Amino acid sequence: MYNWHKIEGLTIDTLQAEKMQEYALAGKRIGILKLNDAVYAFSATCPHTSAPLCEGWLDAQKRIVCPLHKYRFDPSNGRNTSGEGYKLKTYPVEIRNNEIYIGIL
Ligand code: FES
Repeated sequence: MYNWHKIEGLTIDTLQAEKMQEYALAGKRIGILKLNDAVYAFSATCPHTSAPLCEGWLDAQKRIVCPLHKYRFDPSNGRNTSGEGYKLKTYPVEIRNNEIYIGIL
């Protein structure tokens, strides 16, 4: 059963598309990314050696590229698309009345 945490001061309309942003929620560092009409949430620290993923960038397929060793992750499911065998933790997102909620166990 998830606990849902609202990101204060942010709505689906004010969230800039294709720009990763880091938030502190429930004691965790969580990255948020809007792509087209979807919003994704993921651990803001890389599963390799904990670099800050929101300081990375998106590749042409809109995958997250870690700024430190350039491993790539699919923001929708955390898959390590560059093939090193890591898994990025992702979180469920719900939009309620334009506000963004992240589900954390
Ligand atoms: S810390 Fe992210 S790829 Fe190494």
